[in-house]
Amino acid sequence: MARIHTITLNPAIDRILYLDKYRPEVTNRLKDSTDGLGGKGTHVSINLSQMGVPSEALGIAYGENGRKIIELLSQDLIDVNFQYFPEQESRVNYLIIEDDGKCTCLSSKGIQLSDSDIDSFIEFIAPGIGTGDYLVFSGDASNCPDPYVYNKIMRAFEARDLKVFMDASGDTLKKCIEEHPYLIKPNQDELSYLCGRELHTLEDIKEGIKSLEPYDIPVIAVSLGNEGSLVYADGTFYRVISPEVNVNNTIGCGDCFLAGLIEGIYRGRSIEDTLAHAAAVSSACAESVLSVGFDAGRAEELIKDVEIIKL
Ligand SMILES: Nc1ncnc2c1ncn2[C@@H]1O[C@H](COP(=O)(O)OP(=O)(O)OP(=O)(O)O)[C@@H](O)[C@H]1O
Ligand SMILES: [Mg+2]
Repeated sequence: MARIHTITLNPAIDRILYLDKYRPEVTNRLKDSTDGLGGKGTHVSINLSQMGVPSEALGIAYGENGRKIIELLSQDLIDVNFQYFPEQESRVNYLIIEDDGKCTCLSSKGIQLSDSDIDSFIEFIAPGIGTGDYLVFSGDASNCPDPYVYNKIMRAFEARDLKVFMDASGDTLKKCIEEHPYLIKPNQDELSYLCGRELHTLEDIKEGIKSLEPYDIPVIAVSLGNEGSLVYADGTFYRVISPEVNVNNTIGCGDCFLAGLIEGIYRGRSIEDTLAHAAAVSSACAESVLSVGFDAGRAEELIKDVEIIKL
């Protein structure tokens, strides 16, 4: 059986600050605050674990924050293999969540990784990656100045015939499609950037996906927030309409949607079933106040409300 490996080159502590309403230029009093795990790859591992799917979380962590990141990530179905350095500190991000569900993220840069840091990371992860395994890149590795950083990792494992799942944006996404990932999950803005023009309507998005044909990507799942998604899978387009939910926090819906897609493919579900599950878990994630995870019972309930139209 293939193993799933998630990669988080810039993990973080997400410090979540709860406010009734955020007001600039005055003292804001916090209602509550809590520390969670940041870095999209780690979120994919946690979402997969909630779906009963094991994964290996790979990454790089530093100092006390890094220790805390590893501790927050450690649970039964997650095999945590982080390169750990006691000196320096992994970053802290700040997430402001207001009573009406509005979220603002203040993202820190994180420790910059050099070419030789990436070479050493590749050497560190290589023994655990088998032929035909799944490799999940989530987030932009904003701490790596080189937009080809994911290409470098993909190329290092070219001979192992991996299934690569890519949730990146900007130039990182633009470059990495040259390596033929198995699946990409851009949102509307990310797809627009990738295609070099604003894509507004569903028809625009479909055209945008078609323009990526030369890159030979079997699955292109374009997530559209509360509008659901438009997914191209093995030659067919699917319009997925998400159920209407009481939104509390949409940060992390993309990671949850991606985890749902990976789960379906890993378990060999049909494409329709995979899309219905992914839409249900990610809309349950929008209902949750947390930025990672979802209520499994609620997701189960929501599946019947997902509409899938073959285009
Ligand atoms: N308000 C919502 N109501 C229902 N479902 C939602 C809502 N927002 C997001 N989703 C679900 O989550 C999926 C992914 O969301 P979205 O398109 O916002 O991802 P994203 O922009 O990558 O988010 P992020 O990167 O912040 O995690 C959507 O395709 C949809 O299924
Ligand atoms: Mg996203």
